[in-house]
Amino acid sequence: MHGTVAGFFREKEELTCDGVPLSEIARAVGTPVYVYSATSIEESFTRFDRALAPVPHLVCYAAKANSSLAIFKLLASLGAGADVVSGGELRACLASGFPAERVVFSGVGKTDLEIRDGVAAGILAFNAESDREIEKIDAEASRQGRKARVALRVNPDIDAKTHPYISTGLAHNKFGVDIGRAREIFEGSRRFFHVAMTGVQAHIGSQILETAPLEETARELVSLASDLAGRGFPIETVDIGGGLGVPSGRAEGLSQEQYAAALLPHLAASPFRILIEPGRSIVARAGALLTRVLYVKENRGRRFIVTDAGMNDLLRPPLYGAIHPIEPVSPARGQTVTADVVGPICETSDFLARDREMPQVAEGDLLSVGDAGAYGFAMASNYNFRPRAAEVLVEAGGFRTIRRRETFEDLVRLEAE
Ligand code: LLP
Repeated sequence: MHGTVAGFFREKEELTCDGVPLSEIARAVGTPVYVYSATSIEESFTRFDRALAPVPHLVCYAAKANSSLAIFKLLASLGAGADVVSGGELRACLASGFPAERVVFSGVGKTDLEIRDGVAAGILAFNAESDREIEKIDAEASRQGRKARVALRVNPDIDAKTHPYISTGLAHNKFGVDIGRAREIFEGSRRFFHVAMTGVQAHIGSQILETAPLEETARELVSLASDLAGRGFPIETVDIGGGLGVPSGRAEGLSQEQYAAALLPHLAASPFRILIEPGRSIVARAGALLTRVLYVKENRGRRFIVTDAGMNDLLRPPLYGAIHPIEPVSPARGQTVTADVVGPICETSDFLARDREMPQVAEGDLLSVGDAGAYGFAMASNYNFRPRAAEVLVEAGGFRTIRRRETFEDLVRLEAE
């Protein structure tokens, strides 16, 4: 992001992560491998935290963006909260040191078991997505002899102006409840004695590159929260979700400071604690996928660079048409050529880049696929019986494997013949 110093840069023309040569990591761990900069993650979080300092706030990292336990631990130790969307994320975040009172639980389809675990943990809030969910949380809290804290996720019908697959705040999306029904749902909750209706939340989408839709969301939420507080509900938090985008490559997006500067005027006068749920903007630029060139070939004048990473490692290019910068780890040679960078998987949609202007590369070269720290490994699969990549964290001048490469045995372990 804007003004970031940590992360991926060249030293003596070799691409490094915080000064550690990527070639060294590839030699030690093999490829494909995800590499993350701890310093960069720390910096992104801290900048959000500082930029929001004028108001009471909590930055709840959206765990889904990158759910490595080492990254959870790092963020928990810095004082971050977590936004979780499954029982698995809840458990992993609690085990990694996020205190329950810093955890919010989002998601449109929470199961009975997930509700049970969230109530038992005593989390900061369930972001409830329907009246039926509130009823279920109340019943479970009653069973446990507890009172659960609930925020209502509203759908404000605001266009985040992003890819339709990751737009969540439009009236036709499945998320939240129509903001026009919020008061009625709060009133209806008065019959429940085991929930405290402590907040309102919205998340209008991801990869948002302008502030206007986020500002409008903040305004709507604060106004709703004030109204509800006036009706006697114990409102404490206004959660404006995540969504701050990271543009491709070197382009500078909105910085954490610009994001906060745009939102603060709408939040500063309110008495509520402000929660945000950033995922991508904390980890995307902090990560790269390192892959080796297996073949370079031409078909009817079209050049293909075949790498050992495929769509099972990084799904974003085929799924969203996402453009990830790709550069050779060693200094570029010769003139650039137009090429498709493709994986080994048996699908035409298996590409990392299409029609990309690339420096000359040869068999055996290492390529670094940038902006891959968010929704990269997290969305990886074992398609084509491929083991998922290793993950490495660069910190304190060195690096360590935070998830080893899967083996064939890992893949067959759960099978019964
Ligand atoms: N809060 C909620 C309730 C969410 O659903 C999400 C993301 C976030 C926070 C974090 O949003 P972020 O700050 O990362 O934009 N797989 C897609 C992104 C899907 C995002 C889903 N929800 C991608 O690779 O672009």
